[in-house]
Amino acid sequence: MTDVTFILRDGSRRTLDIPEGSSVMQAAVMENLKGIDGECGGCLSCATCHVYIEAIGAGELPPIDEEENALLDGVAAERRPESRLSCQILATPGLSGLVLRVPERQM
Ligand code: FES
Repeated sequence: MTDVTFILRDGSRRTLDIPEGSSVMQAAVMENLKGIDGECGGCLSCATCHVYIEAIGAGELPPIDEEENALLDGVAAERRPESRLSCQILATPGLSGLVLRVPERQM
């Protein structure tokens, strides 16, 4: 399991235990975490799973590929250097301790 903490829009924090191999977006949607919509189910067509990386655990995030990069240009909230699409982040034990901030809007 991978512990991932989300900083929600109201400033509160919620930590999820995510099974290895699941995407961070899938876990957030299953837990009804407010602010992560994941409308396309993770097929890289909606950008409603946008997050800001606040802190990385011991592991490394996968690099941003061309498709994710292109979609990040269309996110509803401001794109920042720490922007990622949470459907592209799969839980691995090394990512425990990852902290993500939910943007102010997804649409
Ligand atoms: S869930 Fe649609 S792009 Fe991530």
